[in-house]
Amino acid sequence: MEGAVIGNGVHTTEGKGVRVATNGSTGSVFENVKLCPPDAIFNVKNKYVADKSPNKVNLGVGAYRTEKGEPWVLPVVRTIEAQMSVDSVLNHEYLAIDGLRAFTDASSRLLLGDSSLAITQNRACGVQALSGTGAIRLGLTFLFQNNSSKTIYLSNPTWGNHNGIASAVGYTDVRQYRYYKKETKGLDFEGMIQDIKEAPEGAVFILHTCAHNPTGVDPSTSQWKEILTVIKEKNIFVLFDTAYQGFASGDPDKDVFAVREAVKMGMEFFAAQSFSKNFGLYNERTGQLCCVLKTPEVTTIVKSQLVVICRRMWSNPPNHGARIVATALNNPSLKQEWIENLTTMTSRIHSMRTELHSALRANGTPGNWDHIIKQIGMFTFTGLTNSQVEHLTNKYHIYLLKNGRINMCGLNPSNIEYVAKALKDAVTACPESC
Ligand SMILES: Cc1ncc(COP(=O)(O)O)c(C=O)c1O
Repeated sequence: MEGAVIGNGVHTTEGKGVRVATNGSTGSVFENVKLCPPDAIFNVKNKYVADKSPNKVNLGVGAYRTEKGEPWVLPVVRTIEAQMSVDSVLNHEYLAIDGLRAFTDASSRLLLGDSSLAITQNRACGVQALSGTGAIRLGLTFLFQNNSSKTIYLSNPTWGNHNGIASAVGYTDVRQYRYYKKETKGLDFEGMIQDIKEAPEGAVFILHTCAHNPTGVDPSTSQWKEILTVIKEKNIFVLFDTAYQGFASGDPDKDVFAVREAVKMGMEFFAAQSFSKNFGLYNERTGQLCCVLKTPEVTTIVKSQLVVICRRMWSNPPNHGARIVATALNNPSLKQEWIENLTTMTSRIHSMRTELHSALRANGTPGNWDHIIKQIGMFTFTGLTNSQVEHLTNKYHIYLLKNGRINMCGLNPSNIEYVAKALKDAVTACPESC
């Protein structure tokens, strides 16, 4: 068919199902929409999968891997799923808009502690969300609509999606607070405090509760106390991003020191909780937004607003992951088993840190690599430059984020020497100035 007239009156030629107008227009109402670049993190994985080299190593992935480089279903999750598969009472009915109550209550207790004043005084509520990402989106949507300040601060650097979510909900005044100090590969504590002091009253701050992504650098407990004191003085509203509870130290109570300290200080805050990493439930989208407020009345009102936002975004949350987490956290022996599974993961990460550090020292890699053993959680912010990262990928088929972040779980006994050798070559071949 030649010269057909399409909806907007443009003449087209047609070949193999593609219609192109004689004036160069496709005739689509979306022809001026720009192609988005692929997501930086997921694209590293795509490139790794496409690489045919037998030596390839994926240090970009944000998920746990076993010693054999494979994904891991936690044994406690397997046990619970086996029980669920024979449970004739379970069905696929909708959950309530705010989610599975056994899950939200257990998640709030895991975060705040069983005897938290916020819980006993009915000042805490939980709303189930599409994992950590959904909880952040839910919390920021509410804050953009209801918080008096329209300024939001993110750590520099931060998990890339924080920027995207903040813009998507409407924030145009997105600022950074100092966090990572390149020279020490540690926390820029003074810079962070100063930036909080200079922030507008009532601004929103996203704080990483533990195992900061991408740097693996967390404040000490005394630094947290000081940070929260300044935050409270400035009436800053905090959204704690809690994507790694239990992944930093192996102890879920210890990892949420900052959140519990904020409760002790009488602060109001939100916390986005994810069970992707600590339960290995990545694609089950299991998480919640936990809110701690001044009074039970305000808590009820805020929750009612959050429920309306959920209804309009996803209507009801998924059941499978929430039921697994609820079953584990509400049963003392299953909870103990979960903590043991957590220890398996954190110990392996820890041993990869010490082994990579020793291998770099043993092979004489130039520079100081102590930050590998000082940083915590899943990631190490190596300090590698762009050209060093490219060298690793192009010559050694080692995939990592452009900013030099590596996932320690991508290392295992069979690739650690290879990675250490490649790192030495990258640092030698491309000194910082190159
Ligand atoms: C800092 C941080 N926040 C939130 C998330 C959200 O994860 P999810 O939506 O899978 O729970 C991640 C995941 O990588 C993260 O690293």
